[in-house]
Amino acid sequence: MEPFKAFRIFGDNDKVAGRVVDMTLNELTAGEVVFRTVCSSVNYKDALAATGTGGRIIRTYPRIGGIDATGTVVSSADPRFKAGDEVICTSYEFGVGHDGGYSQVCRVPAEWVVPLPRGLTLYEAGALGVAGYTAGLAMELLELNGMAPGNGNVLVNGATGGVATLAIDMLARLGYRVVAVTGKDGEHDFLRKLGAAEVVSRHKLEMGGRPLEKAMWAAAFDSVGGEQLAWLTRTMRQDGLIASFGNAGGVEFKTTVLPFILRGVRLIGVNSGDTPMPLRRKIWNRLASDLKPRHLDEIAHVIALEELPGYFDKMLKAQTRGRAVVKLG
Ligand SMILES: NC(=O)c1ccc[n+]([C@@H]2O[C@H](COP(=O)([O-])OP(=O)(O)OC[C@H]3O[C@@H](n4cnc5c(N)ncnc54)[C@H](OP(=O)(O)O)[C@@H]3O)[C@@H](O)[C@H]2O)c1
Repeated sequence: MEPFKAFRIFGDNDKVAGRVVDMTLNELTAGEVVFRTVCSSVNYKDALAATGTGGRIIRTYPRIGGIDATGTVVSSADPRFKAGDEVICTSYEFGVGHDGGYSQVCRVPAEWVVPLPRGLTLYEAGALGVAGYTAGLAMELLELNGMAPGNGNVLVNGATGGVATLAIDMLARLGYRVVAVTGKDGEHDFLRKLGAAEVVSRHKLEMGGRPLEKAMWAAAFDSVGGEQLAWLTRTMRQDGLIASFGNAGGVEFKTTVLPFILRGVRLIGVNSGDTPMPLRRKIWNRLASDLKPRHLDEIAHVIALEELPGYFDKMLKAQTRGRAVVKLG
């Protein structure tokens, strides 16, 4: 196979940075399935990993970044896949302990590979990526705990982010009344277009400080953590459900047991990285059907491999919107 381009991350003298390099197949980490990449994307974890921000996510360098990718199989030493199959690879060690999706060719263990479900193109699956998968998994877990459209408002914070924009679109499609919280005052119309019924400025939130504040939300999708998650616990309605998957605003939060023991609030952790394969396939099938976002074209835009460093910087400053898709094929 001819050499190909990849965005490889180097950690030299405590400085972590990536650049586009030429690579060959035998330089990639081992795996049974080789595929030509069509799309990867930028997730918050990619920005942290490629810049070494907030502690090292990548432990051994150099490493090709990118925690998700879609593409077409070139060869497979595992009988479950054959040349020409269209596939998705996300999570596990992809882009962290194993070379990732910012590469025109990927080589991965067969047990990480999901066949592209009918109803999605490789571009659409790439635009969803880990963010869409996480929004879908959060939806599934909250539904299992009783979330239903008639129960009341669903809050989505960090609303212009990748996971959040997709969650808003999916929730609105299913008939939920969504209240979006954003720090970007210029994006309220965009969020309404995706399906938010109300948009609240993060800068104008009255958080209060009592253990229990006015009960407002039947469910919440939390990208932010920190103070916003603490505030959510205080403002959930009876039996309210919080999906906690993000830390864009901090990893620590302080609350009391009162929301849990007096209002029956349930804090539900969402980890997209290690979902067992049957559930993973179920979520991807839902992303191709009842959860398929209606505004993917407005949420996602394409960037080139060379643009990644600038995009990571913007993402870490909360200056991005929706999803950036890295087109490789
Ligand atoms: N658990 C999992 O498996 C999993 C999977 C995927 C992602 N995540 C996590 O989920 C979060 C969102 O990921 P993403 O890829 O959607 O990232 P993203 O596109 O950067 O979205 C994060 C959003 O959070 C808001 N935000 C950023 N900094 C903030 C701050 N200091 N205080 C309050 N709000 C802030 C911004 O939205 P506004 O400007 O609109 O407020 C930003 O757009 C990240 O923490 C990521 O690590 C976890």
